[in-house]
Amino acid sequence: MNDFLERRELGRTGMHSCRLGIGSTFDAPAEAIEEAFDHGINYLYWGSIRQPEFARAMVNLSKMHRDELILTVQTYSDDPGSIEAEVEAALKTAGLENFDFLLLGNRMEKPSDAYIELFERLREQGKVRFMSLSSHNRPLIPELLADYEQDHSPYELLMFRYNAVHRGAEKDVFPFVPETSRPAIITYTATRWGHLLDASKMPPGEKPLNARDCYRYSLSHPAIDMVVCGPANHDQIKEAISALKAGPLEPDEREQIERIGAYIYKQYAPQYADRGDDEDVSAGLAAQ
Ligand SMILES: NC(=O)c1ccc[n+]([C@@H]2O[C@H](COP(=O)([O-])OP(=O)(O)OC[C@H]3O[C@@H](n4cnc5c(N)ncnc54)[C@H](OP(=O)(O)O)[C@@H]3O)[C@@H](O)[C@H]2O)c1
Repeated sequence: MNDFLERRELGRTGMHSCRLGIGSTFDAPAEAIEEAFDHGINYLYWGSIRQPEFARAMVNLSKMHRDELILTVQTYSDDPGSIEAEVEAALKTAGLENFDFLLLGNRMEKPSDAYIELFERLREQGKVRFMSLSSHNRPLIPELLADYEQDHSPYELLMFRYNAVHRGAEKDVFPFVPETSRPAIITYTATRWGHLLDASKMPPGEKPLNARDCYRYSLSHPAIDMVVCGPANHDQIKEAISALKAGPLEPDEREQIERIGAYIYKQYAPQYADRGDDEDVSAGLAAQ
């Protein structure tokens, strides 16, 4: 069995996840998300845009399978004082009793103790179970990994950008991920906002990639426990699932994806760069 089909434990939570998770932003229908669960996908991320269809799937699946699901709610709030009400509203809107993860989204610095106190309060009330964080500041991630190893970090899951265009995590993050005693490592933007699938953005003579191979690219890195995908419909969910069965990339597939990624990095700057992008590995490759 290829290792994309195995589950990974998320930090010390005791929860085991499929290697692919689904984000709510692109509004796939509830039935398609429920079908993804039948194919093993159990991490559902009610993220930047909390779509009602996604909530419907979470509620439907929770009726029979709550213990197998890993449900995340994300907040971008800069005011820890507002998060309790936000989580309560999200629970009410979705019709759920609790979330497994509260994800502090887009944190450029270590969150203050006020966030941790807020989390403890929500945990005592049974509204969330664990804390996680996403960041566009890659150099922050090794700091959080070191804190975790010393038992000084509450974040059981860390999430950041990684794809064949943005490979900076290969130098800024992955070398610092310990074998054991570490939080789950999750990445997003596997398709680079769809650019890796866009025929008009390819180098001369190259065919565009498909989403399946973009997910395979990220999943092939051993440090990455899970890739969050953003399907917009049933077909896109089926294609994402096919990445699991296809397994790790062959060397020639990797070489092609990295060639296209380096070209796109050079031609199409990101609208929103990660901190650490200045010395991106892809930029180095593209300059050669
Ligand atoms: N916390 C954070 O800082 C953060 C940052 C980035 C992303 N996220 C979240 O992560 C989740 C995943 O987002 P992502 O951008 O990483 O997802 P993704 O799967 O890399 O990209 C989704 C995009 O790819 C296209 N796509 C997906 N599957 C496809 C397929 N089979 N064929 C053709 N096109 C396909 C969709 O395009 P069309 O819509 O054009 O069909 C969509 O624009 C989202 O919920 C997002 O909000 C969080």
